Formats: sequence, C-alpha cells, structure tokens
Amino acid sequence: MGKNVLIITSSLRDNSNSDTLAASFAEGAREAGNNVETISLKDKTINFCMGCMVCQETLECVIEDDAISIAEKVKAADVLVFVSPVYYYSISGQLKTLLDRLNPLYPSDYNFRDVYFLATAADEDESAVEGPVKAIEGWVECFEKARLAETVFCGGVDGEGEIKGHKALDKAREMGKAIG
Ligand SMILES: Cc1cc2nc3c(=O)[nH]c(=O)nc-3n(C[C@H](O)[C@H](O)[C@H](O)COP(=O)(O)O)c2cc1C
Repeated sequence: MGKNVLIITSSLRDNSNSDTLAASFAEGAREAGNNVETISLKDKTINFCMGCMVCQETLECVIEDDAISIAEKVKAADVLVFVSPVYYYSISGQLKTLLDRLNPLYPSDYNFRDVYFLATAADEDESAVEGPVKAIEGWVECFEKARLAETVFCGGVDGEGEIKGHKALDKAREMGKAIG
C-alpha cells in the first residue's frame, strides 16, 4: 500500500539545490510505491508564532494563513521530510517559522513517526550540518512518537543548480526508496 510521505522544502530560490535533493528523495519514495506530496514554502504565507498557546487547548492556531493547511497535512502524514539550505549554520528562517507554527500538533494525535532531513550548503565539511540537525532534532524530540530517521547532507554546493550530478542525489533517492 505504501506510506504517505510529506516533503516540505524551504528554499525560496529558483533551481534550488535543496529542492533538487528533495526531488530525488521523492522519486525514490514513489518508485517504492509510496504516496508522496511535496510542499514548497516558496509561495506560502507563514506568519510568526505569537506564543499565545491557545493551540494547546484548541489544537488550532488563531493565525489564519497557509500554516493551517500545512499543519493538517503534517499531522496526517506517516513520514515527514524537512528540507533546508544551511543558513548561518542553522536551518532556513522559513522552515523554522513553520516548525514553530506546528505547535498545535504538539498535544494532538499526530500520525507521523519517521522524520528525514535533507540539507545543502556551500561548506563542504560535514560539520556544517550539525547546527541544522540540532534544530530539527529539537523539534522531533518534542514529538515523542517520532524520531529523526536519517539525514542527507550535500555540502560544497553554492550556486543555483550546482547540485546537478552530485552523488548526494543518489543517496537521497535510495533513502526514499527504502521507505515502505
Ligand atoms: C542567507 C544565507 C546564509 C547562508 N549560510 C550558509 C552557511 O552558514 N554555511 C554554508 O555552508 N552555506 C551557507 N549558505 C549557502 C547555501 O547554504 C547554499 O548555497 C545552498 O546550496 C543553498 O541551497 P538552495 O539552492 O536550496 O537555496 C547561505 C546562503 C544564504 C543565502
């Protein structure tokens, strides 16, 4: 039957390296018979969490923007894949803003278990992804039924589309293929 895999990409630029990495993961996951949806934050309006905590009682956010429907999809998915360029040795601001806005899911009966993380950076050194992984782990660990399954880091790619032909794309495809 396959799993419902939700991929959330967060780069806002055209011909994005991290989007390309996500597309490879999606290809593999589809080949393995999973149902895959990719959401790009590029064309979405996601305001900052205000910390009102109303969501912890109502399970709904009071801010009416695109984070509401994304949160519904995150809640229903079996597998989550967060995708980010490395920005100042952390995740992108747009992904962090979304993670905060997923606060209504914290007390909810969410479905997701395995979470994957895909990241690209100019820096070639693997240590460039430590901060971003920590940021994702910080979110995942708050959702006790979920775990950070695996990460693909592709360093040494800076310009638009520079990731083309990189072996990290194969790694992401294989990782996607292993889901099911
Ligand atoms: C605001 C900003 C901050 C960045 N910070 C870092 C960084 O801290 N370390 C790094 O190696 N690359 C950094 N980069 C480079 C990007 O991570 C790199 O170009 C990446 O491949 C972009 O992915 P994308 O094409 O999906 O947007 C930064 C780029 C921008 C625009």
